[in-house]
Amino acid sequence: MLDGKRIVLGVTGGIAAYKAAELVRELQRAGARVQVVMTDAATRFVGPATFQALSGEPVFVDAWDARIPDNMAHIELSRGADAIVVAPASADFLAKLAHGLADDLLSTLCLARECPLVVAPAMNRQMWSHPATQRNVAQIVADGVVVAGPGSGDQACGEVGLGRMLEPVELVEEIGASFVPKTLAGRRMLLTAGPTFEPIDPVRGITNRSSGKMGFALARALRDAGADVVLVAGPTALASPRGIRRIDVDTAQRMHDAVTAELDAGQREGRRFDVFVGVAAVADWRVANASAKKWKKDGGRTPALAFAENPDILASVARRPDAPYCVGFAAESERLEEHGVAKRARKGVPLLVANIGPDTFGRDDNELLLIDEHGSRRLPRAGKEALARALADEIARRITR
Ligand code: CTP
Repeated sequence: MLDGKRIVLGVTGGIAAYKAAELVRELQRAGARVQVVMTDAATRFVGPATFQALSGEPVFVDAWDARIPDNMAHIELSRGADAIVVAPASADFLAKLAHGLADDLLSTLCLARECPLVVAPAMNRQMWSHPATQRNVAQIVADGVVVAGPGSGDQACGEVGLGRMLEPVELVEEIGASFVPKTLAGRRMLLTAGPTFEPIDPVRGITNRSSGKMGFALARALRDAGADVVLVAGPTALASPRGIRRIDVDTAQRMHDAVTAELDAGQREGRRFDVFVGVAAVADWRVANASAKKWKKDGGRTPALAFAENPDILASVARRPDAPYCVGFAAESERLEEHGVAKRARKGVPLLVANIGPDTFGRDDNELLLIDEHGSRRLPRAGKEALARALADEIARRITR
């Protein structure tokens, strides 16, 4: 996600400075090179040697560091940086940014930069909610700084509330998102993802091997491009992506009802969805003779299940008079292109995305075939995150042209 990016990581004085060590690792895992700059106060929480060892680069604290020959550390360090990330950013540091103060190396770097700046506030909840801090945050947002978080939860001071620094993995997501052009700003997207679950009795049911990874990755990619995303998810163990409204459902019927309710509300409130993407692997049939009580073994007799057809969510969305731009997914075990073309026509959707290979469920990578009115095109094998970004670009191109 951050392949080849040069990140200057600024660490300010707060107990969350220990999490910045993990952040270095996560940034590197995402492909970035990290240069750490600390404030004096930060060194009281974590020693520079920790960051030096993790980043493999010398750590700078002092604006008068003799290692930089012409005393131009603020220029040298931000030159060529793709972004400056300040994590944790203390209340004091936010105040400095809001007022353009430059009285130490890190604040000078922030003022002398040309690249984007992402800050991750971390402080006690009273400090965060203080009108002065809120004023400073509003000011830096207006100045174009990306404020990531804070999150809510247990705090080092023993209190619970808003002010926790986001977890390193969440921050890497936010930093990655800050590089994505906001081609879908103001657009609304409704997605389904994951499997469905059709009960047989209170303890048993029929489901499938969809992990939800592709749908969740696409939801994140659309969000990163600036869209407002609602995700209707079947049963999956995946964590809820930040900044996305998630509606959990189990059966195909409930998935259908949740989708319909969202589309109706959007229509009623004048906030219609621009795009619907059916990524979910929806059960085609439900058990018609499902039992309210557990089926017991009965003298060697095997139970006979009867099935009834579930509503086709994608086709019903595509048929609406207020239909958004509809994208379907298809899992085929044979004659992919031929079945994909027929399925696109049958569902009445402009774009169908076919999974190449029947073994895609649960994997972290995938290979896709895009089928539209002009024919088909391959998106070569890649991680689901990268494919999701490519697909988000495709969707943006198609609805904005
Ligand atoms: N889909 C849906 N509702 C259903 C079944 C499928 O919305 N009841 C959507 C899926 O989310 C996917 C697309 O339709 O976007 C194709 O799903 P797939 O299971 O491949 O197709 P089916 O309609 O089941 O067709 P077939 O059984 O012929 O493969």
